[in-house]
Amino acid sequence: MNPVTVVADAKAIGYAADLLRQGRLVAFPTETVYGLGADASNPDAVASIFKAKGRPADHPLIVHIADIDSLGDWASTVPETALKLAAHLWPGPLTMILNKQPQVSLAVTGGQQTVGIRIPNHPVALALLKSFGGGIAAPSANRFCRISPTQASHVYEELGNSVGMILDGGACQVGVESTIIDLSGDMPRLLRPGQITSQEIADILKTYINISTPSKPTENRAPGMMEVHYAPSTPAMLCRVEQLPDKIRLLQTSGKTCGLLSCQLEISPTSQLRVLRLPQQAAAYAQRFYAALRELDSLQLDLIVVEQPLQTEPWQAINDRLRKATSA
Ligand code: TXA
Ligand code: MG
Repeated sequence: MNPVTVVADAKAIGYAADLLRQGRLVAFPTETVYGLGADASNPDAVASIFKAKGRPADHPLIVHIADIDSLGDWASTVPETALKLAAHLWPGPLTMILNKQPQVSLAVTGGQQTVGIRIPNHPVALALLKSFGGGIAAPSANRFCRISPTQASHVYEELGNSVGMILDGGACQVGVESTIIDLSGDMPRLLRPGQITSQEIADILKTYINISTPSKPTENRAPGMMEVHYAPSTPAMLCRVEQLPDKIRLLQTSGKTCGLLSCQLEISPTSQLRVLRLPQQAAAYAQRFYAALRELDSLQLDLIVVEQPLQTEPWQAINDRLRKATSA
């Protein structure tokens, strides 16, 4: 294990909370992906997140909190919709965008008057939040526009020693970033799909959810809505399952080395073709998706081909990330 990565036991979590108090960065596991945390009330500490990630300063961060009672410390108004969703879905992979309290630093919100807030559902993240006692601003712990980390080793690959400490809590269970719902306007608006679907939210709120389709973003508020994101360095493309055998044959004859991320198709690897097969069930696929993409990306191949998964509701988040990973 590298020097900054530490098994997330109680002692390590206490030490990580001390580091946060000193304005240092701590990477920690959540149920979705690993986060790169800093004291959300310390603008200098927050600035170092942007530096470590190479992320532009106008891209807002999510503030992670330990309990619903602290929601009012960050949000100036907490609408009924937010309370309902919090009661049903927190702790969990849901981020709510609310109007910010005046004292919330613009460094956290990327200059906006709204703030993203979530209570993560992971014992290490919750213990860290409790031990620290305040809000932790944390984006995914990857370099800007790269694949999100779902294991501690991925964080080290991305950020190395620019982090004070990496708390190792094993592989993340959900595997894709939280669903983001904007509750700061008149109508709830889905900014980023995640494991919690827009239908689930609509059922709880008994209302229509405005889905900002990425093909016509109303504004570029969430970098997750940018067209190229979550992307491997290797060129990547999507291919429908029925077209895959021909596509692979063609690529093989061109002498290209390829990685295939398949789901339904069973195909044997060759010296030119590396195959990783993911589960056919959406949640299990999502859990392993980023690690698989990262593994293929590390092999210096000419191309990564991804079998297009189903276009149904449970696959919403995966299809969103796949579209962005393959749109370079
Ligand atoms: O699952 C997750 O959400 C993970 C874990 C670590 O919690 N975090 C994460 O953070 O994915 P990040 O920064 O990689 O993505 C957060 C997204 C960004 O697209 C950001 O623009 C959006 O949330 N966001 C944050 N605050 C916002 C705001 N006030 N208005 C609109 N979008 C906001
Ligand atoms: Mg991210």
